[in-house]
Amino acid sequence: MSRRGKFITFEGLDGTGKSTQMRKLAAKLRAAGHKVVETREPGGTATGEKIRRVLLDSATEGLSPMAEMALMFASRAQHIAEVIQPALDHGQIVLCDRFTDSTEAYQGSGRKLGSESVLKLHRILCGDLQPDLTILLDSDPAMSVGRARRRNQRVHDSSHKAAGKHRPDENRFEQQNRTFFAHVREGYMAIAAREPQRVVKVDASGTPEQTHRKIAEAVQRKLRLGRT
Ligand code: TYD
Repeated sequence: MSRRGKFITFEGLDGTGKSTQMRKLAAKLRAAGHKVVETREPGGTATGEKIRRVLLDSATEGLSPMAEMALMFASRAQHIAEVIQPALDHGQIVLCDRFTDSTEAYQGSGRKLGSESVLKLHRILCGDLQPDLTILLDSDPAMSVGRARRRNQRVHDSSHKAAGKHRPDENRFEQQNRTFFAHVREGYMAIAAREPQRVVKVDASGTPEQTHRKIAEAVQRKLRLGRT
């Protein structure tokens, strides 16, 4: 499998500002002349976005943890085949909002399915594709999850005012309790401790600009990309 491009993933709890930081890094890398693909999981392909709707909608009830994990991987397998691997083969930089570390943290640790099953499925379904660099945005769970809840509620309220029947939202995970997110965070910390070469932990409690500078520095130091 030829890998001429670079694969950078963004991870962290809901509401840590991953999407904002990904956009900022993409702009910086493009300004430095790189071809950049921005994408996300679950989702990133037409099929993946359909799977995303099932996974994130709070109307999806009774999904078993195993089925949840399987859907995350179904979305990912399609995403790798259709978007990520072709872009890497063309020498592009792929920035991805969440990847298998999310499954290890949320399903492996949060849902208690264990790391081993996640890593095994990753080998089977994803050809063990590893990011060149993972930016793990770290902040207090209560703060970041609270922010994500307010944001999703606002988006839902403003775009779906129609009374009566349910409209799809993206709130299913944000409705989990504090203990769940404490486990997710522990899962992330364990990954960072296990793979310090790949995973760079970035404190996301400052301003977006401060966080961006830390990320840009890490990308430059680890991959020699983005000097302008
Ligand atoms: P995302 O859209 O990144 O949410 P946010 O912007 O709030 O961080 O991700 C959607 C949700 O899906 C998020 O709560 C984490 C969850 N998720 C998993 O549980 N496992 C996975 O493998 C992935 C990719 C996401």
